[in-house]
Amino acid sequence: MRSGPSWTWGYRHVDTTEFYDNERGVGAALADADVDREGVFLTTKVWRTNLHRGDVRPAVEGSLDRLGVDYVDLLPAHWPHPRVPAAETLDAMTGLRREGLVRHVGVSNFTRSQLAEALSVAGVPIVTNHVLYNPFVDRSDLRAYCAANDVALTAYSPLATGEVVENAVLQRIGRRHGKTAAQVASGGWSSRRASWPSRAR
Ligand SMILES: NC(=O)c1ccc[n+]([C@@H]2O[C@H](COP(=O)([O-])OP(=O)(O)OC[C@H]3O[C@@H](n4cnc5c(N)ncnc54)[C@H](OP(=O)(O)O)[C@@H]3O)[C@@H](O)[C@H]2O)c1
Repeated sequence: MRSGPSWTWGYRHVDTTEFYDNERGVGAALADADVDREGVFLTTKVWRTNLHRGDVRPAVEGSLDRLGVDYVDLLPAHWPHPRVPAAETLDAMTGLRREGLVRHVGVSNFTRSQLAEALSVAGVPIVTNHVLYNPFVDRSDLRAYCAANDVALTAYSPLATGEVVENAVLQRIGRRHGKTAAQVASGGWSSRRASWPSRAR
């Protein structure tokens, strides 16, 4: 059985979305990996054009089919849609969670007020808000709101798509501690600011 470098290095969180059009490839890599399904935390997301009540189920069933799995561990709404009430989307996701097709429900790219609306109507915990987060963007308000509401803020582009690596200030801090700029940003800066909801422990 083949096992690519990512699995060999111990990566166990796979994060994809219907929008990236790569779920078949991800599914093939999962099937090929020397890792049990239960040993992987698999996330896929519902794109913003599929957030209406009647569109969520077919979108998720399509993702499961392309991924070749019976369930995903986390299903965030990929991007809020201004004309689709959060209640509609979350209600549909809750139904899928009840049936075991989805273990946890989340959101992505939600502002504080959009998250507040989602929390006020959700019948299940919203376990994460997945947002752009790195030393060059100020997310202190959203971060505090997530922490206060037991929602994990998870970062995408934590290295600012590579910009962090070239940053002179982060490089200087790293030199002082025998670390790279990327390690300062991910291991130091982000982790110390991470919110750890009680249910994530
Ligand atoms: N939820 C959403 O709406 C959303 C939106 C945007 C992105 N995302 C997710 O975020 C993921 C990451 O985005 P990103 O590429 O901007 O992430 P990133 O972690 O900020 O940047 C990774 C880039 O940094 C480079 N890099 C240079 N030195 C590195 C080092 N020491 N360690 C690690 N990387 C280093 C990598 O180069 P190499 O290519 O050479 O490895 C890569 O191009 C995407 O794949 C996507 O799934 C989610």
